Amino acid sequence: MKIDVVILAAGQGTRMCSSKPKVLHSIGGKAMLRHVVEAAEALGDVAVHIVVGHGSEQVEAELGSKCNYIVQSEQLGTAHAALQALPLLSEGSKTLILYGDVPLIKTDTLKAMIDSIDDNSMAVLTVEMKDPTGYGRLLRSANGSVEAIVEQKDARSEQLAITEVNTGIMCIPQQLLEQWLRRINNDNAQQEYYLPDVIQMAVKDDVVIHTPQPKSHYEVQGVNNRAQQAELERVYQGWQAERLMEAGASLADPARIDVRGELTVGQDVFIDVNAVFSGRVILGNRVKIGANCVISDTEISDDTEIFSHCVVHDSIIAKACSVGPFARLRPGTRLDEKAKVGNYVEIKNSHLGEGSKASHLSYIGDTEIGIASNIGAGTITCNYDGVNKFKTVMGDNVFIGSNSTLVAPLEIEDGSFVAAGSTITKTVPSENLAVGRGRQKNISGWEKPTKPRS
Ligand code: UD1
Ligand code: CA
Repeated sequence: MKIDVVILAAGQGTRMCSSKPKVLHSIGGKAMLRHVVEAAEALGDVAVHIVVGHGSEQVEAELGSKCNYIVQSEQLGTAHAALQALPLLSEGSKTLILYGDVPLIKTDTLKAMIDSIDDNSMAVLTVEMKDPTGYGRLLRSANGSVEAIVEQKDARSEQLAITEVNTGIMCIPQQLLEQWLRRINNDNAQQEYYLPDVIQMAVKDDVVIHTPQPKSHYEVQGVNNRAQQAELERVYQGWQAERLMEAGASLADPARIDVRGELTVGQDVFIDVNAVFSGRVILGNRVKIGANCVISDTEISDDTEIFSHCVVHDSIIAKACSVGPFARLRPGTRLDEKAKVGNYVEIKNSHLGEGSKASHLSYIGDTEIGIASNIGAGTITCNYDGVNKFKTVMGDNVFIGSNSTLVAPLEIEDGSFVAAGSTITKTVPSENLAVGRGRQKNISGWEKPTKPRS
């Protein structure tokens, strides 16, 4: 049977105090709504329909054309929101209703709901809450069968004591949903069209109502303010940490790692405290990440160690390299096997060949370096004339003496040697020594300046 997913996301989210629609605020670096869409998409062949209201253009711009959007211009209640999506549902589909501000829902939970229903049954996901204030309560008969959901504002005092609540997440056959939504009125305390009113209709129509529960109550926790967002952020990060440890990574402290994207790890990886990963990061076997590293969109191969306090973006680092502490690898950095980048070295759009080293205090930009070359401390590639960028090309076994200034465009050929403190502006031929500095002159009998006597 086809699956239609309707995500309600029209609410303004006033309590976020933001110019951005609430559902675009992120958890783990990803919009909450995107989490929900991805959980739904992982079910397989689904059509996703998003009911948008406030900031609909922003929502569409973020999620793109793979989802359908329906604008609910006035927020008259959850049933009214679902009603807007009706024309887009396929006849006879199973319709799953989700919420854009309930980001941690898991695909397994949804799958179990979908699998549990047929043409004459529906499922509503419920949860036990110690403090059920604000939620719709599940009313059950003496024999335990579900009778209705009553909203907080409509509930009698003995009903308020009920701790089983409606999560709002439901799975309903399209043909039943259609009939029921058309019959729901707003005759209640909030004068809203309540989606949970479908429960009474299901009871009346002898439709079986399943009430599964999620594994974790965080799956169904909504976000209405930044404190709740922060709480779910920590839950999400905890889940990421568990996943990484299950995959073979050791974490110095599972509570002090942040994954804001997709982190893939090999076996026996070690990640020290306060590492932040974003975008797509892949760590090979036995990779070690030191404390306080920020790494995004980077691939790091087996046995490489990134020492503490490094910032690495859009780079590819081969096996058995050593980076940092305090190194910055900017986009387009490629390190071949056993390359070494030491402290206070900045590299941008450059390639270090196998075994090449820049161990201290350098800027290397737009540079190609061959095998087993050594870049001395304080070397700067001058790649920019204020308007244009130029390349520096170094061969194999090149040695650049400390504090050299390499003015690009420039070629330094295999086996050549640049004397310390040189400013190099033209090609250094293979196996040559280049000296590009004033000669030392020693002046005898020189008198030091003296302070005037007062
Ligand atoms: C709803 C349920 C309640 C349940 C709770 C779980 C109703 C009437 N009540 O209450 O039983 O316990 O969720 O969190 O459904 N939305 C729209 N358009 C609207 C109204 C709401 O898109 O016209 C969206 C909101 O953006 C939000 C979601 O639907 O994402 C829930 O709406 P909200 O007003 O927060 O419902 P609750 O009062 O929390
Ligand atoms: Ca709510």
